[in-house]
Amino acid sequence: NSIPEVEALLAKMTLEEKIGQLNLLTPGGGIATGAVVSKNVEQKIKAGQVGGLFGVSGPDRIRIAQEMAVNHSRLKIPLLIGSDVIHGYKTTFPIPLGTSCSWDTELIQRTARIAAIEATADGINWNFSPMVDIARDPRWGRIAEGAGEDPFIGSAIAKAMVKGYQGEDISAANTMLACVKHFALYGASEAGRDYHTVDMSRIKMFNQYLPPYKAAVEVGVFSVMTSFNDIDGVPATGNKWLLNDVLRNQWGFTGFVVSDYTSVNEMTAHGLGDLQSVSTLALKAGLDMDMVGEGFLSTLKKSVAEGKITEAEITTACRRVLEAKYKLGLFDDPYRYLDSNRPKESILTKEHRQTARQVAAKSFVLLKNHNDILPLKKDSKIALVGPLADSRKNMLGTWAPTGDSDLAITVMEGFKNVAPEAEITYAKGANISDNNEFAKKINVFGPRIEIDRKSPEKLLKDALIAANKSDVIVAVVGEATEMSGEAASRTDISIPESQKKLIRALVATGKPVALVLMSGRPLTIPEEFDFPVAILQVWHPGVEAGNAVADVVFGDYNPSGKLTATWPRNVGQIPIYHSVKNTGRPASPKFEKFKSNYLDSPNTPLLPFGYGLSYTSFEYSNLTLNKTKINQDETINASITVANTGNYDGEEVVQLYLRDVVRSITPPMRQLKGFKKVFLKKGEQKTVTIQLSPDDLKFYNSAMEFVSEPGEFEVFMGTDSNCNLKQSFILN
Ligand code: IFM
Repeated sequence: NSIPEVEALLAKMTLEEKIGQLNLLTPGGGIATGAVVSKNVEQKIKAGQVGGLFGVSGPDRIRIAQEMAVNHSRLKIPLLIGSDVIHGYKTTFPIPLGTSCSWDTELIQRTARIAAIEATADGINWNFSPMVDIARDPRWGRIAEGAGEDPFIGSAIAKAMVKGYQGEDISAANTMLACVKHFALYGASEAGRDYHTVDMSRIKMFNQYLPPYKAAVEVGVFSVMTSFNDIDGVPATGNKWLLNDVLRNQWGFTGFVVSDYTSVNEMTAHGLGDLQSVSTLALKAGLDMDMVGEGFLSTLKKSVAEGKITEAEITTACRRVLEAKYKLGLFDDPYRYLDSNRPKESILTKEHRQTARQVAAKSFVLLKNHNDILPLKKDSKIALVGPLADSRKNMLGTWAPTGDSDLAITVMEGFKNVAPEAEITYAKGANISDNNEFAKKINVFGPRIEIDRKSPEKLLKDALIAANKSDVIVAVVGEATEMSGEAASRTDISIPESQKKLIRALVATGKPVALVLMSGRPLTIPEEFDFPVAILQVWHPGVEAGNAVADVVFGDYNPSGKLTATWPRNVGQIPIYHSVKNTGRPASPKFEKFKSNYLDSPNTPLLPFGYGLSYTSFEYSNLTLNKTKINQDETINASITVANTGNYDGEEVVQLYLRDVVRSITPPMRQLKGFKKVFLKKGEQKTVTIQLSPDDLKFYNSAMEFVSEPGEFEVFMGTDSNCNLKQSFILN
């Protein structure tokens, strides 16, 4: 399906011009996530040595860059303009791990649509999102940027986001190319340390880690970004098996592949040779665009001359980049995204902010609600304490470079907006961390951890004074924004000690305490969870943070979020996730020698995948299947009755897990295979039906064939991954 206009252009291009199209640069000024920043960008654009730019925004600035390409380079080829619009553009939504906890794929698609409307209004036509890396190690800071541990919900969210960004028509002025990343397995880096080695069996890869990338390809994602890690000893950026055999040949991907920031050059440090060798390796593997490192620009011509690669291989890569530009409509009008009136009309509109508030409230997970402390009455006397209670800088969360934290609503402001009649006494109570060295590492992009001039003792004393004056304490505690995200791995994922002391002292007052917990990852909170408190997990909620927190704390919205990543009891349990396999020596609840258990910890997590409470209660009954036996090409329906038995209207995420009882390779104990979010008025009950398709019963076997095998399947349905209502059926 070649595009005649692109072929005609290719016929006119010199080798140097083709190589130029493979070069992606950033002029700096935004967030540089590597040591190298591109130099002489203007000269290179004019010389036809640049195919795309990122880290530039605004129609006026982008027009200047686009004019350099269109008016000065010989063939006038417009630039792709990329950006990291990870969770909203200026209207910043919660971090992706947070939005995933809404289990609301339609709403997630809407957030991506809004992000595209705003980003394209600001001149951007290519988004380095969605990040769909499965993550089962909360030490890894980038767990914040994805949808958690599970390939089923991860795939559903990957599809929703690609559709949201790319819309129905990629040539429309308010749609943009999506870029699924980081291909592949980036979330499985050893010990949760960023950029680290990955070593994984093909069976685990295909069954657990690759499905979300594949899902993005299935809905037509236009680009793919490689990951920093190696796979079977070859970094993804130079991995021909991954980029050519799997992505292109098996999955039928027809778009272009871009490296991550200098990940071509980094293959030298990985031990694969000098810049010329690794650039050759990457091109031959199927990489089309080189981000920032300029290995392609500086070595490919020489490699052609030396017969290490052919011009035809470069032409193939160039064709893919040009086809994307053509499909965007840039050849018709290079300035199609550059209407100076659009930003005012389309960015941070009232409606977009309203969606940000709604999705934030839906991303919150009620972890505990001792004695129904929450929701609070709007006329309560509240001690609002904690280092995140009045912090604006920490509301947006990681990877929100296009957002503006000055526009974020603090929790304090949200409380005043939603409950003006409340009597609020504020005290900071503690620093996010008292550790200066730690704070310095966190504060690279600005002051996220501000160590107060007051001593920790004085901060605590002020909080206790506020507590004594009040009927209830709300403590907003947890991680600063940059404590998660890229290059923000932690070996200790508990709440920092400074805040733990505050929490202990507040609990000791005997007043009701609600913890509003912010973080970019699951935390280890065994001590706090044992306290007689309420805990509302709010992640980093985005630009409408405070309003959304207040909506939930005061009961205007009844929390419905469910965890998409398991919360361990301690770091020693990591990796921990719901779809574990059994062992030959399964543990029993009580410790037994020579069984698969720990001496010093239960096997079970603190909070399982899919977990989340509501202000109301839901009861499940009557799980039924419409068939007891099916053939391989048949569907089967599972139905269950859900009743709202509490005192509030509310939403519930009904979950379905499947167990393949006997098969040729060891099966997980259960796997998520369906979910539905339903609204129930108090006293109401509904029957919820989820259909299993033939593919839901399939898995990749030892020969890497996607098959289902005859035998018994168990279906579990309920409120989280521990649900125990069960029915079985037989696959013929
Ligand atoms: O898109 C990002 C990627 O996720 C991490 N490295 C830098 C890229 C471009 O900013």
